[in-house]
Amino acid sequence: MTQKTQWGIIGPGRIAHRFAQALEAEDVGELYAVASRDVNRGKAFAQQYHAAVAYQSYADLLADPLVDVVYIATPHMFHFETAKQCIMAGKAVLVEKPMTINVKQSEALIELAREKSVFLMEGMWTLFLPIYEQVNQWLSDNKIGDVKLITSSFGFNVPKDEADRYYNPDLAGGVLLDMGIYNVATSQWFHQQDDCEITCDGLVAKTGVDEMCLVNLKYPSGTATQFVCNFNTQTINDLTIYGTKGHIRIHPMFWDTATATLQTESENVTIDKPFEVNGFEYEIKEVEACLRAGKLESSLMTHQRTLSSLKVMDTIRAKLGVVYPNE
Ligand SMILES: NC(=O)c1ccc[n+]([C@@H]2O[C@H](COP(=O)([O-])OP(=O)(O)OC[C@H]3O[C@@H](n4cnc5c(N)ncnc54)[C@H](OP(=O)(O)O)[C@@H]3O)[C@@H](O)[C@H]2O)c1
Repeated sequence: MTQKTQWGIIGPGRIAHRFAQALEAEDVGELYAVASRDVNRGKAFAQQYHAAVAYQSYADLLADPLVDVVYIATPHMFHFETAKQCIMAGKAVLVEKPMTINVKQSEALIELAREKSVFLMEGMWTLFLPIYEQVNQWLSDNKIGDVKLITSSFGFNVPKDEADRYYNPDLAGGVLLDMGIYNVATSQWFHQQDDCEITCDGLVAKTGVDEMCLVNLKYPSGTATQFVCNFNTQTINDLTIYGTKGHIRIHPMFWDTATATLQTESENVTIDKPFEVNGFEYEIKEVEACLRAGKLESSLMTHQRTLSSLKVMDTIRAKLGVVYPNE
């Protein structure tokens, strides 16, 4: 590997801009190449973020020996095939959330990555934010006692464009994979438990994808999670962890925030941990540290964590009757 990690981006759409901005930080690697099916989009992106090369095909980017690691930022439906191609080309890969559309695909990818000794991680960037470290510290200091309940919401009034990836089943749209994944992943993380009993309800749009999910997760230890995610209205978008001695509130937007409050009988503290750039730099640093250490998996955003969230989401989708084409 060259001294500075050389990143390649596949799919320079909306979120790829934020990722590329984070790569402009001093202490991370650099954007070396971008691949887009649209030559003009690729060139414009490369110019904007000072990438050396713009490829018109994903395969050409994967054939470039100077690319150390690939960030996949395409709609959900294409994550599996594109990540598979990266692994087959021997490229380390960070796949945007969700890693794939279901557990079965992620199990296959993880197995392939292990077989080929290639690094693979899902881009659940929230778990690397500095304020999440602070919240974990409060929890391990037993500030709120035993965790009993986690509640959260994630909702926006999303334009009702049936072709856009949010509502389009061919792109594996739906609110759960797009937004609810944060409610699921953060709850599983704070509960430190995977297996749970799931009850849910929701609304399915006429395109066949979920546009609202109302979910309860009940763990064998007697703790629980309740969340709502939806495409119809902007909710409060915070997350609260209730314990036997108090609670911790992660401020809106809980997946993209620098602020949390600890409230107990004796303390009422609000802490801010501002981002160095835009928040994506922390997952980037994690990937680069793993690559330098020769690791095939992050010890924080593990493969098991990805599978655990997908298992919950597979069950919720099955209960709501949301099935993607060719699934
Ligand atoms: N971490 C976060 O905070 C965050 C926020 C938003 C989204 N995301 C995730 O990021 C990923 C991309 O979301 P986005 O909103 O950025 O996507 P997007 O702008 O709709 O599309 C991104 C790229 O995917 C390719 N693409 C789009 N539509 C396609 C189609 N119909 N067929 C084949 N390829 C298509 C295009 O690549 P080409 O340039 O090659 O044409 C496009 O540039 C998703 O996994 C999403 O969940 C994460």
